[in-house]
Amino acid sequence: MDIRQTTAADFIKVKAVHQEAFGPEEGPVIVSLLDELLPDPTAAPILSLLAEDGPRVLGHVLFTNVVIQGAEPVAARILAPLAVLPSAQKQGVGRQLVEAGLKQLRDAGGELVFVLGDPAYYTRFGFQPAGARGLKAPHPIPVEHAEAWMVQELCSGVLGRVMGEVEASQVLNRREYWIG
Ligand SMILES: CC(C)(COP(=O)(O)OP(=O)(O)OC[C@H]1O[C@@H](n2cnc3c(N)ncnc32)[C@H](O)[C@@H]1OP(=O)(O)O)[C@@H](O)C(=O)NCCC(=O)NCCS
Repeated sequence: MDIRQTTAADFIKVKAVHQEAFGPEEGPVIVSLLDELLPDPTAAPILSLLAEDGPRVLGHVLFTNVVIQGAEPVAARILAPLAVLPSAQKQGVGRQLVEAGLKQLRDAGGELVFVLGDPAYYTRFGFQPAGARGLKAPHPIPVEHAEAWMVQELCSGVLGRVMGEVEASQVLNRREYWIG
């Protein structure tokens, strides 16, 4: 399996992966999120990685820019969305995509990465609750899902120093994407 940056030519296959992984209800929402998010100038810089096995795209992860209101400028991104073909799940494809993305962001001088997702999955990569570190989500997260709003620092000394309200790109900041 190889991991590489996506090109425009990959997106039919990439969207098919999200459609299948998220299923008939959530799939179309994620596909239209991708359609709008990729050309959104406020999402840049983006990091878009796919996992492939020969001609088959097995998984995809996207990181887009966020800014933290009320804080000093910081290189921060958010991971969304992530998907692996159902037939390729539980074989480490998601893990390799997330780890490759985090490494590339770190190597490029990234400081913080956010995610809204299942803590049972994302804590294994080093994500921790963001609210407790003074980093508010763009929209209130229901209290029962508070732990799903997570962050990790890619270099030490950022968490605890940088606090404020996170603003994602124009498209990803829409309230509909923050209702759990
Ligand atoms: C979440 C997802 C990307 C994981 O991909 P994957 O390639 O199967 O992940 P990995 O093989 O690296 O890890 C699998 C492990 O994560 C666990 N896992 C997968 N999804 C999980 C979830 N939502 N919550 C908790 N654990 C999860 C699996 O049970 C498995 O555990 P194990 O290692 O103890 O057996 C994939 O299941 C998927 O595409 N799901 C549908 C879309 C989705 O929910 N995306 C995430 C949105 S934030």
